[in-house]
Amino acid sequence: MILVTGAAGFIGYHVSRRLLEAGRAVVGVDSLNSYYDPALKRARLDALAGLAGFRFHEIDIASEGALENALPRNEARGIVHLAAQAGVRHSLTAPFDYERSNLAGHLRVLEYARHAPRLQHLVYASSSSVYGDRSDGPFRETDRCDAPASLYAATKRSCELMSETYARLFGIKQTGLRFFTAYGPFGRPDMAYWSFTEKVLKGETLTLYGEGKLARDFTYIDDMAPAIIAALDHPPADDPPHVVVNLGNSNPSTVNDLVAAVEKATGMVAKKEFAPRNAVEVSATFADVTRAKARYGFEPRVSLEEGVARFVRWYKGFYGV
Ligand SMILES: NC(=O)c1ccc[n+]([C@@H]2O[C@H](COP(=O)([O-])OP(=O)(O)OC[C@H]3O[C@@H](n4cnc5c(N)ncnc54)[C@H](O)[C@@H]3O)[C@@H](O)[C@H]2O)c1
Repeated sequence: MILVTGAAGFIGYHVSRRLLEAGRAVVGVDSLNSYYDPALKRARLDALAGLAGFRFHEIDIASEGALENALPRNEARGIVHLAAQAGVRHSLTAPFDYERSNLAGHLRVLEYARHAPRLQHLVYASSSSVYGDRSDGPFRETDRCDAPASLYAATKRSCELMSETYARLFGIKQTGLRFFTAYGPFGRPDMAYWSFTEKVLKGETLTLYGEGKLARDFTYIDDMAPAIIAALDHPPADDPPHVVVNLGNSNPSTVNDLVAAVEKATGMVAKKEFAPRNAVEVSATFADVTRAKARYGFEPRVSLEEGVARFVRWYKGFYGV
């Protein structure tokens, strides 16, 4: 049995679907919180409910005993831990959401894993944000990560450190995946590709921070989700048994490139205004994926233009635009 936390989230939905389609049983958990529209989370769960082998529990992973009630520890063979309070801006106004979901939540998952006798591997979500505000990519896993630009990034780096300790003390096999701006169908409404699509289709004005020159290593979900499952199936043989691995496209694009891709996919011209960059938004992200390639054969294939076209097609179908 694979436990997927954050199964009603964007990445959790895609990973759960792929596991189920491969005939693997999944217990999904999620709090369905209202950081963004819970109806979208429920729609993802409805899509998973039709697949054999899926069970879901609405829980807060940070609550004592909640994970154990959802899945008795001796039944867990693998964990894909994706539940978290995501988003860098929200951490300016709701810092304690990050404390609970990301710090207490991660520790609960580690304690669950510590006493799960048949567990083979815990894979958890980290983030490109741990690299801080840099423009000298590509970022390598061996680079220093001690200057986070947001509380979100600080909590993700803290998760990596807690995992390192639990690998050393208790031998729990773990992989921390540093995701670089995942996007695609059933994605996240708080992210730029989603809000730009929504606004362009409605004829509303886009606000571009830092003159649209901020660069992101946009990674399409159909490149990322199979790599997460490949990671699950390749527990580290390292000593201690914990590794962090970048999952990114290794081909950054600017926000202006993103707008151009949305314009092309919608066939409409965007109205734009510029605003200064917020300090929590880093100037660039750029993954070196040598490690993911060596360990999992990771090879991102989908270009930003193609990925945005697929997202826009999904968006129009989902909302009947
Ligand atoms: N999408 C990206 O580009 C990206 C980039 C870097 C890292 N990540 C990380 O990947 C993971 C998945 O991200 P996503 O994009 O799917 O985000 P998401 O917000 O769509 O999914 C996270 C899910 O976790 C759930 N959750 C939050 N707190 C919880 C709690 N205390 N108990 C139970 N469930 C809880 C939420 O309801 C949500 O459904 C997160 O850990 C995120 O920080 C994502």
